[in-house]
Amino acid sequence: MVPSDPTPLPATPSQPGGPELVIPGGSTTRLGRWLLRELESVDSTNDAAASLPAWNAIRADRQSAGRGRYRRTWVSDAGGLWISAVVPTGPAEDGWAALPLAAGWAVCAALEDFGVPSPRLRWPNDVLVGSRKIAGLLADVFRPGLAVVGIGVNVTNHPEHDDPALAGQVARVADWAAPVPALRTVAAAVLERLEEAVRVMEAGGFAALVPRVNGRWQAPRAVRVELDSGVVEGWFEAVDAAGRLRLRLPDGGLALHEPHRVIMLRERD
Ligand code: BTN
Repeated sequence: MVPSDPTPLPATPSQPGGPELVIPGGSTTRLGRWLLRELESVDSTNDAAASLPAWNAIRADRQSAGRGRYRRTWVSDAGGLWISAVVPTGPAEDGWAALPLAAGWAVCAALEDFGVPSPRLRWPNDVLVGSRKIAGLLADVFRPGLAVVGIGVNVTNHPEHDDPALAGQVARVADWAAPVPALRTVAAAVLERLEEAVRVMEAGGFAALVPRVNGRWQAPRAVRVELDSGVVEGWFEAVDAAGRLRLRLPDGGLALHEPHRVIMLRERD
């Protein structure tokens, strides 16, 4: 169940002149620049947020059709943080491409504050502890200038109960945090860090956020990268200020790969 809201707000537009929120029920809370709406169940929070203005976010206790990357189903059992945030990207074509990295950094920073040890990024959209995935990110662009950043974090849930193939591959905040924070508390922390990341990018572009992002790879990592032009192996080092992957090759050379040309990156260890 959604916890009762100590400071409920009416479902008003988040920006003067912006469209009305159309999702009935639940509770609404102001968190910094964010207007967070919490619901018991939706199909996918990304889809539920598709028509909302910037700086709105939706959290649901459960998703009946949670989506992952590569059109995979995202197990969204009770006890996980399933949230989508509508972020302004500006007119720049590359503005939204960096958002999953920005959101990944935000999740790492927030989870670390709850005692999760050394959460790290796996390019492009995963947050892991060691080799176990604790969070995934999915950015959708439904309208120009706005991105919906979907964030799924395992908190007290057990996704491996729904999908036994995940056994041994997933981590949860509850594996470390004591006491385990409420989902709303985790949501507030993630949104606060995401707002910080967006503010940094508003002021200095993605380049300004790169030092934070690059501090979260625990790189170099041996990887196999499937590109649109073939497969390469090497060591992933970081991303550059333009968001390109820096790949150290077996002969010592450095290759830079545009993110949109990377089909899949797999870690080899
Ligand atoms: C992945 O790792 O494949 C991305 C998973 C993204 C899951 C989140 S949960 C909230 C939001 N709503 C969705 O349907 N998906 C994202």
